[in-house]
Amino acid sequence: MTPEEINKIIEIPAWDSVSAIKPNEAAYIYQFIKEHNLSRTVETGFAFARSASHIMAATENDHIAIDPFQSRYKNMGLSNIEKLGFSDKLRFEPDFSHNVLPKLVNEKKTFDFIFIDGSHSFDGILIDFYYANLLLEQKGYVMLHDTWMRSTRLVENYIKTNLTNYRYIKSPLRNLSIFQKLGEDTRDGMGFTEFYTFKSYFVYKLITWMANGERTFLKSVALKIKDILK
Ligand SMILES: C[S@@+](CC[C@H](N)C(=O)[O-])C[C@H]1O[C@@H](n2cnc3c(N)ncnc32)[C@H](O)[C@@H]1O
Repeated sequence: MTPEEINKIIEIPAWDSVSAIKPNEAAYIYQFIKEHNLSRTVETGFAFARSASHIMAATENDHIAIDPFQSRYKNMGLSNIEKLGFSDKLRFEPDFSHNVLPKLVNEKKTFDFIFIDGSHSFDGILIDFYYANLLLEQKGYVMLHDTWMRSTRLVENYIKTNLTNYRYIKSPLRNLSIFQKLGEDTRDGMGFTEFYTFKSYFVYKLITWMANGERTFLKSVALKIKDILK
């Protein structure tokens, strides 16, 4: 099933146009999974299942989705998966990721693709990444959604500066951050590299300024500078 076919079947309600990932992001994830031949997947943050539906269509394999608040979304994520005929391949965990991810570690599960789009607090994303690192196979990929947010950018920066066993992959989509695990973490437990930088703070300020109000020539130039800096 292609992204176009999926988007004709799933329903994203008009009363919430912000929670689900965008169709172009979903199509990119679908393509990425296919190109890299990935098949063992888990995600935090299910909502309307736009990400889950594209991940599952790309792998045609089992998928684990974690989200404690499906009822807030009128169970539409689960009904979208049902409409697609994917229900028997979905393990849905209606709980917080900080409870489920350690459970998966204990079950000795491993994955080659992990999508993080659950809690968007800095500590929530960092905890998801911490467990993602334990669950990710060598050469596996982790994607963070919503890199326009300061919290996500800080986690992104933390991985870039402190975890030398990860390779940053520049995404053509500004709101997605991609890392590939290259090996085990061999840091000295006392080691630490500062990851709060004025550059990342400046880039964040640029993004929020550009996102608000009309697009002007100055904003377009600023966007180009931001892309060079990233
Ligand atoms: C931005 S939405 C996810 C959108 C989804 N990926 C899609 O494409 O439809 C964020 C989701 O994270 C969930 N969430 C919030 N805190 C969470 C946590 N601690 N663990 C897992 N999910 C969480 C929310 O209930 C919400 O459904």
